[in-house]
Amino acid sequence: MKVLRKAFNQPLDPVVSKFVSSVKDDAHLIAADITGSLAHVAMLEKVGLIGSTQAANISGALQVIKEQAFNGQFDLDPEFEDVHMSVEKKLEAMIGDDAKLLHTARSRNDQVALDMRLYTLEQIGTIGWHLKILNAVLNEKAAETIDVVMPGYTHLQPAQPVSFAHVLNAFSEMLKRDEERFEDCKKRTACSPLGAGAIAGSGLPISPEFSAAALGFDKVFANSIDAVSDRDFLAEFVFDCTMTAVHLSQLAETLIIWCSKEFGFINFSDAVTTTSSLMPQKKNPDPVEIVRAKVGTVVGDLMSLLVILKGLPVGYNRDLQETKPPAINAAGTIVDSLKVMALAISEMTVNEEAMLKAASQPEMFATDIVEYLVNKGMPFRQAHETVAEVVAYARESKTSLAKLPVTEYKKYSQLFSEDVFQLFDARLSVKSKVSPGGTGNVQIKSPEGVKNHA
Ligand code: ARG
Repeated sequence: MKVLRKAFNQPLDPVVSKFVSSVKDDAHLIAADITGSLAHVAMLEKVGLIGSTQAANISGALQVIKEQAFNGQFDLDPEFEDVHMSVEKKLEAMIGDDAKLLHTARSRNDQVALDMRLYTLEQIGTIGWHLKILNAVLNEKAAETIDVVMPGYTHLQPAQPVSFAHVLNAFSEMLKRDEERFEDCKKRTACSPLGAGAIAGSGLPISPEFSAAALGFDKVFANSIDAVSDRDFLAEFVFDCTMTAVHLSQLAETLIIWCSKEFGFINFSDAVTTTSSLMPQKKNPDPVEIVRAKVGTVVGDLMSLLVILKGLPVGYNRDLQETKPPAINAAGTIVDSLKVMALAISEMTVNEEAMLKAASQPEMFATDIVEYLVNKGMPFRQAHETVAEVVAYARESKTSLAKLPVTEYKKYSQLFSEDVFQLFDARLSVKSKVSPGGTGNVQIKSPEGVKNHA
């Protein structure tokens, strides 16, 4: 690394040079870096620090580099420490001395802070889009399965019949919250640090407001020291990724259980399943299992980031460079996981009969029987105890609640009559839960608005 070392007598040791370089991660930041530089040039021209011909020269060449990077024709030079130096040196090779004006009143400290903000905003846009796609896929499946009834589980034990669509909608709600969380993170991310310099701002007549506006940011830093060292937005972004990864792992685990032979509620298509190198009959949900596992790496990213930030002395520290890999890994992992889940769910088939059979086990209706007694005037706690006694009796006498004669029911309460047997219908049980947000009141939120499928 030969650049910026006029005050030194020795070149940087090659081992050290490789160690401190951020070029590998910076491949993700080329577009952001150039966007930031374009705003900076516009500001330098506006305040008269550079002439309009020079500004046009610099901007034109920066656009060319951006295009080259987009077409894979501009690779970062490992000889340089980072994307900033690489772009500046490329610019110099293209337009000569005018390139030397670009870094006026700027430091790589405010530059990299801006790059990470722009990168984060772009990733939020991409993740938001893929969250929407997965949600649309879930909504579509829910609309198809509005009448499919399955057992609802608590503690993974059969609880009460629910609609399959209602379960899918539960995941939809999680993903909508994720989307909102990412949107909210934008507010604190879209704040420009340009003009903070290395730590103190500048003695030159710059306009941080102008460069912020050129970037489309409505906020500009208030304190130059905080501006170069603030990575709160990144921690927040990676937390948002973590929360999404947690939801995706819950969705993945749920689907994996459902596709087991023991449950047999769904089937994944061949496009998202793999087989065994030893057991030819195997059809394994590996991609969905990997989504379940990926949360581990994303939680790891969040931990790395927070620990890197913890205990830093105020001002820019090179440690901040190490906040890039966790953010880049978390973002990429979430996008890939969302794509895989959308594919897996859009192609999965639903085994309606197996679910209805499981949801029709007589004990699934115990709570309905409690509500039946409540409707006939019995206080809830007493009804709960009465039905618990009937359940215990049915278990002991190895019969089912549906087969127990009404005379036996009457031994526990005279409020029971023949109509109790009408309760043993999973579809009716679901339909009866019309309380707001209940499983009998399923709403499918399509992009056009809210359609009531109750
Ligand atoms: N290479 C650093 C990074 O990517 C930016 C340079 C920071 N400034 C410095 N004085 N070394 O985060």
